[in-house]
Amino acid sequence: MSTTIFDFNLPVNRSGSLSVKWDKQPIKSICGNPEALPFWVADMDFTIAPDISEALQDQVDHAVLGYPRFYNLQETFCTWTKFRHHWEPKIESVVIAPGMLTSLAVLMDELTVEGDGVIVPMPAYQPFVRMTKGLKRTLIPWDLGYDHATSRFSLDLEALEQAMRQPSTRILLFCSPHNPTGMVFSEEELTKIAILARDNDVMVLSDEIHADLVYHSANHIPFDVVARRVGCQAVTCMAPSKTFNIAGEHFSVAVFSDQRMAIRFSRRQQTLFLGTGLLSTVTALAAYRGGHTWLMELIGYLESQADFIETFIRERIPRLRFIKPQASFIGFFDCSDILADVERDAVDHPELYNPHISPEGGLLSRFFGQRAGIAMNDGSWFGERYGQFVRFNFGTQRSRVEEALRRIAKAVDTLI
Ligand SMILES: Cc1ncc(COP(=O)(O)O)c(C=O)c1O
Repeated sequence: MSTTIFDFNLPVNRSGSLSVKWDKQPIKSICGNPEALPFWVADMDFTIAPDISEALQDQVDHAVLGYPRFYNLQETFCTWTKFRHHWEPKIESVVIAPGMLTSLAVLMDELTVEGDGVIVPMPAYQPFVRMTKGLKRTLIPWDLGYDHATSRFSLDLEALEQAMRQPSTRILLFCSPHNPTGMVFSEEELTKIAILARDNDVMVLSDEIHADLVYHSANHIPFDVVARRVGCQAVTCMAPSKTFNIAGEHFSVAVFSDQRMAIRFSRRQQTLFLGTGLLSTVTALAAYRGGHTWLMELIGYLESQADFIETFIRERIPRLRFIKPQASFIGFFDCSDILADVERDAVDHPELYNPHISPEGGLLSRFFGQRAGIAMNDGSWFGERYGQFVRFNFGTQRSRVEEALRRIAKAVDTLI
């Protein structure tokens, strides 16, 4: 039996720590109940790896936060990806950037013009849609297949081909592993996407922010690997933020299949004076250099958490289904079987479902917020066709997950 060093069951009090996830006002905004326990925004309730704390502490003890100069940033990232994904990008193809969304937005802005088509797999992490529309690009939704009977999402490659064939299409804004479904894609699937992209002259922007959190039972293949083999244009974007629970310190890395694109992106960042900060870079470097043991244990914890939720839902709340992820700490609950009952509850108790009180919510997030005291992202946040889902963030202590599931079970029981 392997011994563990880190205890992810230790309670961490995040109230009053400037956490958006634990702030009552945004909680109210997504579910109507400011007292609901937070299981939404995608960060975790775990303290960071000791190497990261120590590096930050050293910098703060120094007590000057002037302009920094860092060494070996790209090399550090490549050493990390070799360890984690058996992937060693060329140093010249690696560009350091602020947050992932900033990188994606700058890339979209640089590589396309107004009106150009951007394919986004749906359901989608909502900022993908907002970014596309905000930059006045044409959103081309690509619906993933979903089989209610097996609670599984799948890639509809025929639909992707159609989307790619539209004359305006320039970019596929991919997400691998996929948020919110937790899908990890096979080499075969990624290769088919890369071939379609190459043949239709579409650039793939692959957001791989959840890649380092792929479970021990699964395997992540960076898009760059297949893009280079197939000969399609791709930018593979990674970040230590989700991985090491340091999302408040923006830092990401873009890896280009085409060297000229890397230069173009670097120049664009310089033009806009974009760069990473001192503490965000200290944090990221410490994570990549010293966070691996913590991460390997965390992944084991998250995977067992997903198993626990799957069993609990199957045995105690069979009217819900858990779309079990293969990576990270978020998973959809399919609530189709209770939807009609919740709609009736909303008709009988409109005061609990008032959209003015919870403008960021939807029917189900309001139901679970008000009736269970649990705050989750409504499925409609990920696309209007996904209102039968809620997204549950289980990056937290087992005791909290148990408490949430017990409350959810009780609320569902009251519907019968
Ligand atoms: C798929 C995906 N991309 C990007 C982000 C945000 O990245 P950043 O905070 O680095 O902009 C998230 C956060 O949840 C995410 O899930």
